[in-house]
Amino acid sequence: MRVTMFGTGYVGLVTGACLAEIGHEVICVDVDSNRIERLQAGEIPLYEPGLAPLVRGNAAAGRLHFTVDPVRALEGAEIVSIAVGTPPNGEGGADLSQVLAVAETIGTHLSAAAIVVNKSTVPVGTAQRVHDTINAVLARRDVQLDVDVASNPEFLKEGAAVKDCMHPDRIVLGASRRTTFDRLRKLYAPFVRNHDRFVEMDVRSAELTKYAANALLATKISFMNEMARIAEHVGADIEQVRLGIGPDPRIGWHFIYAGAGYGGACFPKDVLALAHAARDAGVPAPLLDAVHAVNDRQKRHLYTLIQRHYGGPPAGRTFALWGAAFKPNTDDVRGAPSLTLLQQLWDAGATVRVYDPKALDELRRTLGDREDLALCDSPAAALDGCDALVVVTEWREFRSPDLELMRERIGDRVVFDGRNIYDPVELEEHGIAYYGIGRGR
Ligand code: UGA
Repeated sequence: MRVTMFGTGYVGLVTGACLAEIGHEVICVDVDSNRIERLQAGEIPLYEPGLAPLVRGNAAAGRLHFTVDPVRALEGAEIVSIAVGTPPNGEGGADLSQVLAVAETIGTHLSAAAIVVNKSTVPVGTAQRVHDTINAVLARRDVQLDVDVASNPEFLKEGAAVKDCMHPDRIVLGASRRTTFDRLRKLYAPFVRNHDRFVEMDVRSAELTKYAANALLATKISFMNEMARIAEHVGADIEQVRLGIGPDPRIGWHFIYAGAGYGGACFPKDVLALAHAARDAGVPAPLLDAVHAVNDRQKRHLYTLIQRHYGGPPAGRTFALWGAAFKPNTDDVRGAPSLTLLQQLWDAGATVRVYDPKALDELRRTLGDREDLALCDSPAAALDGCDALVVVTEWREFRSPDLELMRERIGDRVVFDGRNIYDPVELEEHGIAYYGIGRGR
């Protein structure tokens, strides 16, 4: 099938490349000409395992194209996907300007009937707005085309996006026409060849499904962070508690890790946007508000532990930070707990030496060059001349550290473990003071 993908961010680029991989002809379009030039040159603008060979291979095979020209992009399109950003609008809601701008573009340049599929995370009712926008523009052009707008939310995780896209646990389709469901099933069928993983529903339910999934996952995390807070004050260890509740299949092992708080471009904004939409609809959403508030507090918790240890603001001290990305296997620092901690440390007059295997360029882009920030090229280099170590992201390479080296290099012999990856007893046996999240100390 001939697919046009608006947006070359995580969702658009990964989905576009995966659709090309299963044999469709995909053309990705973006308003960012620099990004498109880089993609045309085979340069991948974000780090995602497995993505580079997929993009380059399918581009070389002539199935995956990149352009800034919407006319060329929409020529002969059967399926037109929208995968652009829906950032916060400043009032807690979702900013739909990019989605609606794409709808305008589609209305302006579409020349034959097509199915428009919205993949962006959007409030309930957006598909209808996209439909109305496209039809208003078509009417201005005095053109009549049959355009059906469906909702097909995306559930891929950064760091595992290609795998998630090629092997989805479900494909949610929101539409009203049987023909649209059938076309979309045909589009995605190779991803789910051996299992019927399609879930068909109405458009508005599909739109809400995406928010419900992210909000429930965020709720699990905030719940565990709240338990961790309690554990810390009653002398219990949240890691033991996690092992005690995970085997219950009704609870499950996933998303019950207490830590430095959830970050990324999705959970923080989606929880807020859903609460905002609920309020707009006259429905209070106290649980969602609490999920957000707990996370906000959690992102500042590592600093609280640091202050507790030093008996006040750590002015003049140097901290090594291991990890800047909001989670492992990505270079994304959007909404990352590391950003909150860095700001708190700087406000207190401390200096920071950061190592991250992938995210240092993004960190520099986000924060600029500063005297109180050193970007280091190895975990050991970050420890040079530091007083304390803080682990913010649980990259695999941090899991089995050289404890002798730690003891030698960390001036104050103290580790703040924001992801509970170390054994407190082992560190203490090496003469290193240990603070974890919810570990009774
Ligand atoms: C999330 C969802 O998991 C995807 O299903 C969804 O498609 C995506 O948002 C989106 O809306 O686009 P992602 O933001 O890539 O994916 O990251 P997650 O793996 O969900 O992690 C989010 C945050 O939660 C990270 O900061 C992670 O460190 C934190 N987390 C996760 C915890 O603190 N504890 C846990 O137990 C799990």
